[in-house]
Amino acid sequence: MVAQIVRKSNAAVYAGELGSIYILEKYRGRGVGRTLVQSLAKSMMEHNFDSMLVWALAKNPYRRFYETLGGEYVCSRQIQIRSSNFEEAAYGWRDITSLLSSLSNATGFGSP
Ligand SMILES: CC(C)(COP(=O)(O)OP(=O)(O)OC[C@H]1O[C@@H](n2cnc3c(N)ncnc32)[C@H](O)[C@@H]1OP(=O)(O)O)[C@@H](O)C(=O)NCCC(=O)NCCS
Repeated sequence: MVAQIVRKSNAAVYAGELGSIYILEKYRGRGVGRTLVQSLAKSMMEHNFDSMLVWALAKNPYRRFYETLGGEYVCSRQIQIRSSNFEEAAYGWRDITSLLSSLSNATGFGSP
């Protein structure tokens, strides 16, 4: 599993940015992603980042994960990777404290 986290966001009013998150396929659906986001949110709060943004490829069905965790659609942008254009969608949490509250009831790793 990989989580790339906490860097200062240059987007809108959001203070922190989740760069990317990737869970190995065999570990998905066990609460690992939620636990990583929770850990990141705690770390952001400790570093006085009070809001968070994440960019996801618009065509990636896994972006719905962020909606499940309460992320609100913010905006879209076009990006270029090598010579191809892609659309990205941003999801944001304006209040890290609320995110942490909503995640607090479901911690730890479970069976699939
Ligand atoms: C997206 C990803 C990080 C989720 O991690 P995970 O460990 O499988 O997720 P969790 O088990 O912690 O799930 C937490 C909640 O999100 C929901 N969820 C997980 N994947 C989802 C998806 N693709 N669409 C909608 N909801 C999703 C779960 O149902 C769960 O909600 P519930 O507790 O209400 O049932 C993981 O599937 C992944 O690494 N995907 C491939 C990489 C990728 O595309 N990453 C970028 C995402 S844009």
